[in-house]
Amino acid sequence: MSMLLKTDEGIRLKGTLSVPGDKSISHRAVMFGSIAEGTTKIHGLLTGDDCLRTIDCFQKMGVQIERNEDDVEIRGRGIDGLQEPKEILDVRNSGTTIRLLLGILANAAFHACLIGDESIAKRPMDRVVQPLLKMGAKIDGRENGSFTPLSIRGGSLTGIDYISPVASAQVKSAVLLAGLRADGVTSVTEPQLSRDHTERMLRLFGCEVEEDGLKKSIKGNQTLRGTTIHIPGDISSAAFFLVAGLIVPNSELTILNTGINPTRTGIIDVLKEMGADILMERKDESSIEPVADITVKTSSLKGIEIGGDIIPRLIDEIPVIALAATQADGTTIIKDAAELKVKETNRIETVVKELSKMGARIEATEDGMKIYGKSKLHPATVDSHGDHRIGMMLAIASCLAKGETAIENNEAIGISFPRFFDLLEELKHSNT
Ligand code: S3P
Repeated sequence: MSMLLKTDEGIRLKGTLSVPGDKSISHRAVMFGSIAEGTTKIHGLLTGDDCLRTIDCFQKMGVQIERNEDDVEIRGRGIDGLQEPKEILDVRNSGTTIRLLLGILANAAFHACLIGDESIAKRPMDRVVQPLLKMGAKIDGRENGSFTPLSIRGGSLTGIDYISPVASAQVKSAVLLAGLRADGVTSVTEPQLSRDHTERMLRLFGCEVEEDGLKKSIKGNQTLRGTTIHIPGDISSAAFFLVAGLIVPNSELTILNTGINPTRTGIIDVLKEMGADILMERKDESSIEPVADITVKTSSLKGIEIGGDIIPRLIDEIPVIALAATQADGTTIIKDAAELKVKETNRIETVVKELSKMGARIEATEDGMKIYGKSKLHPATVDSHGDHRIGMMLAIASCLAKGETAIENNEAIGISFPRFFDLLEELKHSNT
């Protein structure tokens, strides 16, 4: 499908909005609720396709999950209660679903087949499969288990002390989840800290997770107990409106109830360093995840260098940070971000290709990109390449391009932000 976005002379963005629930937290809430004992109630679940895939996979393993819009009730079956699925588990576009599921199934007393869409078929699974094999799981698949389709038959597991070559919350989570059912202690050490939602949520479900700097450890044979979870707005979805409010002239936007877990707020730090006017109003701390209302006003931005330990804290926001950089004075360099190549698309390639079509001056580098400010963007026919974050970044770019921009494969946006286009239109006001 294709979506035509029209931008009139002098539009501005104004208003208060909420973004859908955090994708990473939503996946974990469904997964942990399914393997917990007792009932779990989730409020504010992201109802995008990725999280619906997670629900579908656990329903296929016999878990009773009832959903009413973004409220979900799960009758947990306990970690040994999952049933052998009679059908293939299809995660479609969802990397988090397949990688964390592998960790959960590593000890299951049955066999399961896992597949996804064309994008999943290109994404590396060996980063999760290798440590799980070391623990004793039996996994096979294309190219020796490096790519989907994958087949897994649980085994009896032994704890390992795993040094991960990549900072990846998906790898860390899969290994820790397998560790829940392994003999002894399982540890994962990453080169930089990745998002810590698994650690926080395992504690909410009554498990102990130890931390020693970048090393996270879990003891085997722990039981999860059902609980109630309120999911904050996704900062990765808020990111599109944060940048929109900063780069569209005369704008002011407030995004309510956004998750501000420090392992996710790299975008706030970077935008502030670029000169952004951002105000954060912290909400109460009753939840396991910190939350704030965030207000942004149009600001003049300057180019900066982004690299090192901050990258895992903003990896999903790099496409929209690149857009912000096209409107900054001076050059922005993004480095140490080769992980972008193995996301839903090769995001170095897709960002550079699509923003160039709109007049941005941007170059791909080996591990990131170089963006020259300040570019006047013009309308074009652009393509999400089936990547939700590329589609949304281009929709925000279209607000600076007077005329009509067509976004091809726009339906991908439903993966993480079902009402994105409606919300964007509601915030557009004329300047007169
Ligand atoms: C996610 C972790 C990140 C992120 C992805 C969601 C998660 O990937 O890019 O969108 O929910 O654990 P990696 O852990 O592979 O870096």
